[in-house]
Amino acid sequence: ISRKGSSLVREIHEKQSMNKSRQRFWELAGSKLGDILGVQKTAEQVDADTAVVGEHGEVDFKEEAKFAQHLKENEAVSDFAKSKSISQQRQYLPIYSVREDLLQVIRENQVVIVVGETGSGKTTQLTQYLHEDGYTTNGIVGCTQPRRVAAMSVAKRVSEEMETKLGDKVGYAIRFEDVTSSSTVIKYMTDGVLLRETLKDSDLDKYHVVVMDEAHERSLSTDVLFGILKKVVAKRWDLKLIVTSATLNAQKFSNFFGSVPIFHIPGRTFPVNILYSKTPCEDYVEAAVKQAMTIHIASPPGDILIFMTGQDEIEASCYALSERMEQLTSSTTKAVPKLSILPIYSQLPADLQAKIFQKAEDGARKCIVATNIAETSLTVDGIYYVIDTGYGKMKVYNPRMGMDALQVFPVSRAAADQRAGRAGRTGPGTCYRLYTESAYQNEMLATPVPEIQRTNLGNIVLLLKSLKVENLLDFDFMDPPPQENILNSMYQLWVLGALNNVGGLTEIGWKMVEFPLDPPLAKMLLMGEELECINEVLTVVSMLSVPSVFFRPKDRAEESDAAREKFFVPESDHLTLLNVYQQWKANQYRGDWCNDHFLQVKGLRKAREVRSQLLDILTTLKIPLTSCGMDWDVVRKAICSAYFHNSARLKGVGEYVNCRNGMPCHLHPSSALYGLGYTPDYVVYHELVLTAKEYMQCVTAVEPQWLAELGPMFFSIKESDTSMLEHKKRQKEEKTAMEEEMENLRKEQAVSDKAN
Ligand code: CDP
Ligand code: MG
Repeated sequence: ISRKGSSLVREIHEKQSMNKSRQRFWELAGSKLGDILGVQKTAEQVDADTAVVGEHGEVDFKEEAKFAQHLKENEAVSDFAKSKSISQQRQYLPIYSVREDLLQVIRENQVVIVVGETGSGKTTQLTQYLHEDGYTTNGIVGCTQPRRVAAMSVAKRVSEEMETKLGDKVGYAIRFEDVTSSSTVIKYMTDGVLLRETLKDSDLDKYHVVVMDEAHERSLSTDVLFGILKKVVAKRWDLKLIVTSATLNAQKFSNFFGSVPIFHIPGRTFPVNILYSKTPCEDYVEAAVKQAMTIHIASPPGDILIFMTGQDEIEASCYALSERMEQLTSSTTKAVPKLSILPIYSQLPADLQAKIFQKAEDGARKCIVATNIAETSLTVDGIYYVIDTGYGKMKVYNPRMGMDALQVFPVSRAAADQRAGRAGRTGPGTCYRLYTESAYQNEMLATPVPEIQRTNLGNIVLLLKSLKVENLLDFDFMDPPPQENILNSMYQLWVLGALNNVGGLTEIGWKMVEFPLDPPLAKMLLMGEELECINEVLTVVSMLSVPSVFFRPKDRAEESDAAREKFFVPESDHLTLLNVYQQWKANQYRGDWCNDHFLQVKGLRKAREVRSQLLDILTTLKIPLTSCGMDWDVVRKAICSAYFHNSARLKGVGEYVNCRNGMPCHLHPSSALYGLGYTPDYVVYHELVLTAKEYMQCVTAVEPQWLAELGPMFFSIKESDTSMLEHKKRQKEEKTAMEEEMENLRKEQAVSDKAN
């Protein structure tokens, strides 16, 4: 009886802890995604279970001792990569053994799908083989990556392998950063960059080969590129297209391009022992840290890789790990083996990112704490232990809030298997899953939902429209986005003035396409033109395009807060950013000045770079650089024009509600508006951050008449109740009329398509 009882309790706990995170997610994401994922029911069941109080889940791994022995026996393999020269390493990769066959298939076919385990050499070798086979004598080899970090680090690695300076024969391009030159023949870039290149050069004439790498990730840009490249390939017979993928989806890709060949790179992987947590754990950060320490103290050599969801968690776990190492060292006289703790996430500066690939000093064990970036895009050799929290962050469009939110979400089974596989690259390894086997089997989705089906499509709609794709619902998507998402995004663009009533690009819309910015930021810039304060708005937009420039070390929190407050412009966080930049400029862009004022010099330099690139675009568009001097009210108005959909009305102390949907939103304690003598009645904000509360990030006070003037489809000055009602009615009519017109257009199009 007791055994039965305890397993029952365990089951309930299991459900509960998975469901807690899910429920939190559903609450935030509304019901739409539930339909897509088809798991809504689970969320509804939650209520029944929540009465039971969960206890702290302990991670318990029974088989460890036995496995440790096994591991020891295979230790010798691990030092292979470290001891060999770079060219020997190249020849050791699985792809090397099929080099000739692969090149032959590519010679004979225009489109080829290449499938291989992560780490087999697809990303680093394929481009070089193509170069060696003569494809760069006329045209270049381009290789897309869904992630910026991967594009940068892989380009660096390949430039080393080819013994050339980065940016010379081998280069990379990511948004706002182009490290290529006229001699570049192998170009790594984010898929977003190639997508934007199709705007300028719709046939991609400079490329002889395009490698769409990591296609299985199904990023938004990759999915759109699929549709575009399918057309280009039909037009340009000389263009080769190679799509690489982990085993997932390969057949689907092949079908999409008309049953093209699939080339398999034979794998060379070692078995990975998978250990599940017996009970669900409440705090996976704590559990992961504990597990890593246990491995470090008790298990044979081999590096550790921990998967966390994002920067905050990574920083927290690195901090906890180093603290525990310190405690350990001071509490014993014995020599404690060294642990080199290395974070990796996309916003981490490049020099620190590179560290994960370097050998640790004097035999220390490496412990890499990563986001899902290390799942497939980056391969680090020497990993024997993987600790998988079972969660990742995903961008999800929330129709209720009308915006994208980055959300913590259980990963899919496919992703979990990928993560585990990272432990079996250099020898047999172990994967510790901090969730139960039943959660893996019953709670996780088999595969992830493609980004195109879950995010805001504003940028993509704008882009496709400018590529003359009149009817988005007919675009050749491998998996079409929900029609409602397209229409919703079109509505948002219409509200911003980028689309006209029949869904065509307006003059502003055409200009907005030119900027590699989200539509609201592009709108802000163009409003700066109209209000003659583009110099100031340009700085605001640039500062919003880089990570926070304020530096807040834990041990000097008060001091740094005081330093930040000196920059505050009381009515606006946006203007505070402008103020910071202008003062930095007044101090000759000096680095020591940044240090004195607790500012991140790297962030500011990046903002300066972004600014100069946006300025180049403005110059090409012949938009003059106007300035409003120190009269910053007009800058606030430009900010308002981009964000009136994110406007909020004062409700209580520090408490606001969204003007359109009544969602509560709060001033963040770090905001310049927080703790002011007065609190403005109306504000707009850059984005909503969902943590303990709904916090508005980057807030600016606005005048209510601006809202009415700039967003007449949403707001009017209240004269009487009837006019308010009338306005609402008119607003509804306008939206219906627009939708009807679009629908008619679509029908006409369909008829004319048929006639053709
Ligand atoms: O793309 P795929 O996953 O098939 O493999 P890859 O990224 O080309 O990696 C092949 C090898 O290059 C692995 O053994 C990596 O450890 C190594 N590599 C590296 O040392 N430094 C990098 N920045 C990238 C890859
Ligand atoms: Mg790769």
